[in-house]
Amino acid sequence: MKYEILPSFLAADLGTLAAELLRAEDSTADAIHLDIMDPHFVPNMSFGPSIVDFCRRTAPAFYRNVHLMMSRPDLYIEKFAEAGAQTIQVHIEADCDLHAQLRRIRSLGVKPALVLNPETPVEKILPYLNEADEVLVMTVHPGYGGQKFISSCLPKVTQIRNWRKDIDIMIDGGGNHETIPLAAAAGANQFVAGSYLFAKEDMKGAVEELRRLIQTAVS
Ligand code: DX5
Ligand code: ZN
Repeated sequence: MKYEILPSFLAADLGTLAAELLRAEDSTADAIHLDIMDPHFVPNMSFGPSIVDFCRRTAPAFYRNVHLMMSRPDLYIEKFAEAGAQTIQVHIEADCDLHAQLRRIRSLGVKPALVLNPETPVEKILPYLNEADEVLVMTVHPGYGGQKFISSCLPKVTQIRNWRKDIDIMIDGGGNHETIPLAAAAGANQFVAGSYLFAKEDMKGAVEELRRLIQTAVS
């Protein structure tokens, strides 16, 4: 099982965005997590496809994991694929035909992924489980960085791991040195950390420490 750490760009210093992206890449993190929000789906706004394109131009080899917190992701999938998204994550709570959208994402050469909000029962993903390469279990209510990890979401991770041994399972929200090992022990293998990692002067040291803690949690 490959364990991956993904800094969330939402927590980067907007004044030095290029340097922040390169700092995340140099930290040996596996990918940049890009949080795209529409204010209908969540009570906030963030950025659009141009930031994904900025990441491709600034750090072409740094994998781009794009989390669409949108009511109608179906209207934007081509735009994000064209901008350089390499995984596109769509919420199961979105207002569109998810079977069709997961197929469409794959047909564009992008990895399709599903996301579950904290209050959404895990069984809801069953009809789509063989169509997604990755499932993201939200461990905060989406909309803002810097929130507290909701540990009662972890049994969903374990249930998904029992259903599919080979799928990537990500957690997002409140990830840090205490919560990421808990998620690893529950069966997750991809970990988003926004405010925790970008606040570190030595992001590389923090990523290496997370990798050690994950190994201990799963061994
Ligand atoms: C929440 C976003 C998360 C968030 C994570 O709406 O989907 O990716 O930026 O930030 P932290 O790690 O600070 O909770
Ligand atoms: Zn996210």
